[in-house]
Amino acid sequence: MAEVKGRVAVLSGDGIGPEVMDATLTVAEAIQNTHGFKIEWKQGLVGGAAIDAQGKALPAETVELCKSSTAVLFGSVGGPKWESLPPNEQPERAALLPLRKIFGLYANLRPAVLYPELAGGSPLRADRVAGGFDVLVVRELTGGLYFGQPKETVKKGAGERAVDTMVYETHEIERITEVAFRAAAGRKKRVTLVDKANVLETSLLWRKTVKAIAARHPAITLDFMYVDHAAMQLVRDPGRFDVLLCENLFGDILSDEAAAVTGSLGMLPSASLGQGSFGLYEPAGGSAPDIAGKGTANPIAQILSLAMMLEISFGHRAAADSIRAAVAGAIREGWRTGDIAAPGEKSVGTTAMAGEIADRVASRPGRS
Ligand code: IPM
Ligand code: MN
Repeated sequence: MAEVKGRVAVLSGDGIGPEVMDATLTVAEAIQNTHGFKIEWKQGLVGGAAIDAQGKALPAETVELCKSSTAVLFGSVGGPKWESLPPNEQPERAALLPLRKIFGLYANLRPAVLYPELAGGSPLRADRVAGGFDVLVVRELTGGLYFGQPKETVKKGAGERAVDTMVYETHEIERITEVAFRAAAGRKKRVTLVDKANVLETSLLWRKTVKAIAARHPAITLDFMYVDHAAMQLVRDPGRFDVLLCENLFGDILSDEAAAVTGSLGMLPSASLGQGSFGLYEPAGGSAPDIAGKGTANPIAQILSLAMMLEISFGHRAAADSIRAAVAGAIREGWRTGDIAAPGEKSVGTTAMAGEIADRVASRPGRS
């Protein structure tokens, strides 16, 4: 039995965050019992919840908790209540971006998988998703327009002048490219570099750097696609892609698009990783303030984020696989939350869905 111990910083945040997190912790309990390991789960404040309690979206205490943890299981932050704050103090910008920077989380993995049983929920025509699809967006997360300097707004004449700077250095491209190639090696062995090399200097550096790394990975097929074309291909024929390697902003946009075409945003996890095994794991879907507190949110994205965490930060592949098998089993056997139920199909709430998954984890470890 694998020796797994350590601490997880549990940052539930806002909106549906707390309710899907609570539900996910029941699955965490089940997986620990089944596989015989014990992790310490420690709650911390983040986002609007932290602003309300302590006046800051990312209190120092929370950063310290993360520093003393093996990984962060993150819920979601933001909501209408905090939208009138100055942009720099809003939960999304004041909590998520600093966490990425402080912990050097440069690699963002966003799998977008179409479950065959849920293909009817995809906004794409049935024949376009008939073969299902499984796309992994590998997004650079600590560079590009998000963090490049200068970044400012200054007075100019009667108006103002605003600047964001897109900047990349070779080493930043190399390390994320290695992540993408390693991921592709365990998948369909195809990497598509998404860029705008017909216009952007940074894209030329990306192409050059990625090509050099590709030479070290002969088993992986590499191709290049302009971001506008990639956005189009994602809705025409998503099945053609395996790993999409993207700079920060392109990856932000295309990962939402890839998620949306699955039709089940409530099912998609993500991982943000740095140099070591530390990582931050969060659902792709956001805080969904419209359904917060109703107990109807889909907990699966959070539960699959837990699985990614156990696999990547704790090295416990078997535990991750049994969670994924339990999710697939619950879906196959017809369990649905409202967001993934077909019209007329019966749906259950957050706790019941997590309960179904926890039961499968407990009674059928390693199988669905
Ligand atoms: C995401 C979000 C963030 C981003 C925002 C909230 C800053 O959209 O994680 O994709 O743009 O990276
Ligand atoms: Mn985004």
